[in-house]
Amino acid sequence: MRLSRYFMPVLRETPAEAQIVSHRYMLRAGMIKQAAAGIYSWLPLGYKVLRNIEKIVHEEQQRAGHIPMLMPTMQSADLWKESGRYDAYGPEMLRIKDRQDRDMLYGPTNEEMITDIFRSHVGSYKDLPMTLYQIQWKFRDEMRPRFGVMRGREFLMKDGYNFDLTKEDALHAYNRHLVSYLRSYERMGLQAIPMRADSGPIGGDDTHEFLVLADTGESEVFYDSAITELKFGDRAIDYDSVDQCQAVLEEFTQRYARTDETHDAALFDQIPEERQRVARGIEVGQIFYFGTKYSESMGATVADETGAKVPVHMGSHGIGVSRLLGAIIEASHDDKGIIWPEGVTPFHCGIVNLKQGDAEADAACQALYDALAALGLEPLYDDREERAGAKFATMDLIGLPWRITVGPRGLKNGVVELTSRRTGESEELPPEAAVEKVAAIYGVIKG
Ligand SMILES: Nc1ncnc2c1ncn2[C@@H]1O[C@H](COP(=O)(O)OP(=O)(O)OP(=O)(O)O)[C@@H](O)[C@H]1O
Ligand SMILES: [Mg+2]
Repeated sequence: MRLSRYFMPVLRETPAEAQIVSHRYMLRAGMIKQAAAGIYSWLPLGYKVLRNIEKIVHEEQQRAGHIPMLMPTMQSADLWKESGRYDAYGPEMLRIKDRQDRDMLYGPTNEEMITDIFRSHVGSYKDLPMTLYQIQWKFRDEMRPRFGVMRGREFLMKDGYNFDLTKEDALHAYNRHLVSYLRSYERMGLQAIPMRADSGPIGGDDTHEFLVLADTGESEVFYDSAITELKFGDRAIDYDSVDQCQAVLEEFTQRYARTDETHDAALFDQIPEERQRVARGIEVGQIFYFGTKYSESMGATVADETGAKVPVHMGSHGIGVSRLLGAIIEASHDDKGIIWPEGVTPFHCGIVNLKQGDAEADAACQALYDALAALGLEPLYDDREERAGAKFATMDLIGLPWRITVGPRGLKNGVVELTSRRTGESEELPPEAAVEKVAAIYGVIKG
């Protein structure tokens, strides 16, 4: 993409309404525009990151054996009356009447709808285990929408639902989700810590929230600092192996880590004092085993081996896809702007032409652009007639992790400059070597 042809309405001024850094930078970098309180348009740059996050979520869910699908955002109230949640949900549910005066709603979550789909088509234990998921917009009429996409009213969520014959099978599904979530967040350059959460009115303690540590987080968290040393990394995992998934759950949940809702001061005090941490966190996901709550109230049964009809064991598992943009920026920025992790960056690298209109510099930039594109990489070429300082400021603000700077002086010596946004370190090298280095960083093989 050439910046001169792109739509990226960068703001010079810091918008007064934005209270936290991620919201400020998303507005300033022209990633989003508020349409109404808690409702945003995703401008091209924001949309690209959103799609990158979605792609990671899709890949990791399917790697775990979960099946993608899509349900509508608008739902009939009937199913919710069946489960009893139509009255229970409260004012966060946006209720709408259609022209026939039928009760409709904009889905805040999809347990009812997926349970209805399941009960309509699945009747035998032989079809289990099954996990279906979607990435779809949700609406919750939050009392206090704030912090930009962090607490929106309309927001994008991955929601997945497992259907299993037994509690043990459903707990394996729970563990599969835990593993796939750890992998997903790490690919986004994030550390998200699974913390024991409150299961609310449903009861039971099989629920964990995933929290990204950040001062601006809305949740108060208490944890043993040893947990921050854990990394899933690129180890192999067999998602069908009950033992392997269980071992990961144990490894990542054996240390104390809880949100304020489940915090237990007596247990916390048993941690060596130097490892006790009280901090704030952003909830970027939650996994939840809830047994037969919906299958019983909505009649989602399967025939077991003896032919008897039994309600299935279920769980639901969410990732805050749009909230993640804010969380990633909160975790990765400096006073000049965003610093995108390579896994989600909207463009792989920036190309800054220090002397637009200079035949040699223009040609060198174009050659770099073509070479990177030929490798399947997407550069953003700042080809505007702007002074160098302004171009650097824009690149720093939008946070591409790598920048190649091209100017007549360097070209005389046969070099361009490759700069890391994260460290600020630069090195001079021939254009081909710069391309190779960027390709290597993104794991693209040349040739
Ligand atoms: N209003 C919102 N705006 C953006 N993302 C949200 C919002 N509400 C929930 N999410 C995201 O969707 C994920 C799954 O939804 P879930 O039902 O667990 O949310 P929740 O526990 O009600 O969230 P919260 O406690 O933050 O209101 C959450 O972990 C969060 O990342
Ligand atoms: Mg939650």
